[in-house]
Amino acid sequence: MIHKEDNPATPYRNFQQNSENLFVGIDLGTSQSAIATSSGKLLNVASVVGFPKDLVAYKLVGKSVVFGNECFKNRMSLDLHFPLEKGVIEFHRNQKDASRQREAISGFINHIISLIGRKEGQNLYVVVGAPARSTVNDRQAVVKAMEGLVDAVLVVSEPFLVSYGMSVFGFAIIIDIGAGTLDICRMHGAIPEEEDQQTFFTAGNQVDTKFFDLLKARIPNARISQFRLKEIKEQHAHIGKKPSKIMTEFSVSGKLVSYDISKELYESVESILPNIIKTTRKMITEFDQEYQNLLMENIILAGCGSRIKGLDEVIASELSDLGEVKVRLTEDPIYAGAIGGLRLGQDMPVEEWEKL
Ligand SMILES: Nc1ncnc2c1ncn2[C@@H]1O[C@H](COP(=O)(O)OP(=O)(O)OP(=O)(O)O)[C@@H](O)[C@H]1O
Ligand SMILES: [Mg+2]
Repeated sequence: MIHKEDNPATPYRNFQQNSENLFVGIDLGTSQSAIATSSGKLLNVASVVGFPKDLVAYKLVGKSVVFGNECFKNRMSLDLHFPLEKGVIEFHRNQKDASRQREAISGFINHIISLIGRKEGQNLYVVVGAPARSTVNDRQAVVKAMEGLVDAVLVVSEPFLVSYGMSVFGFAIIIDIGAGTLDICRMHGAIPEEEDQQTFFTAGNQVDTKFFDLLKARIPNARISQFRLKEIKEQHAHIGKKPSKIMTEFSVSGKLVSYDISKELYESVESILPNIIKTTRKMITEFDQEYQNLLMENIILAGCGSRIKGLDEVIASELSDLGEVKVRLTEDPIYAGAIGGLRLGQDMPVEEWEKL
């Protein structure tokens, strides 16, 4: 897994401070949420909320609600809720779950805002990232969740924030591979429109599910931990070259047996490729011919799924029939969106914000 501990406040000194207004970029992600503030903090929190299952569990964890990675440490004692399934605020189907889920969402947003460290009297201006093709309802749900906690909020497409944070205002294609969503966005020197953006649910979580399903089908009697498989994925995921052996032991009918699981991992990781190639190709070839080269020279991989080894080379080679293609990665996939949000917030004239 990426983080053993929620990241403590890290100083980030590139931005000007302003004692009256505090600007913040927040990337609410399915697996983790990142925060960048104009007072110089970078923080991230696993997007998970836990409620003690019963009185004994409450005694053990010592609080009525737990946030972030502490939830995983105490997961046997907690009912876990993921407030951002598929990258948007998600309400649940049955009545009992719905009220708990609402509690989880508002608790999580409150927790995030409390980490920002706003000083008394400061106005809080927040830019929040949303999946490229999230609906108006999805975006309104974010605004509603922030009501009463911040002074103004702006909900903006996540890949757009990534490129803004990298000062890419011209031509580029951003491919953001997260846990819940794969977002692809074409930048062309203006705010991207609907036809420039595409969201798929073929991202990290789907790789995890496929990996688990393939192994279950091959070794039906094995006890397989999804947490462990995710760790193996994050350590070994690669694409392009033939997979080399990954030996892992599973308990099968009470005995430990060793298996090479490289083929299943490879097949699961590879399953995210078709949507990336098909959509990137379409966004290039359906664009004004005069500018296609500029898009091809600037393909940027973001999100922690971009850490799959060899992915940049495979994308460049799959699209090489179009001409010379250059694929690069963001410097820091965890904070790229939050930093873009912070920069955009600081650049927006205060009068143009919609106040809550
Ligand atoms: N080295 C790695 N190789 C492959 N996948 C990885 C690696 N490191 C992290 N991941 C995967 O990246 C995903 C998390 O990415 P990220 O933190 O960008 O998502 P998110 O922003 O929380 O989700 P979303 O943008 O979909 O809301 C998880 O599925 C995680 O397992
Ligand atoms: Mg994300």
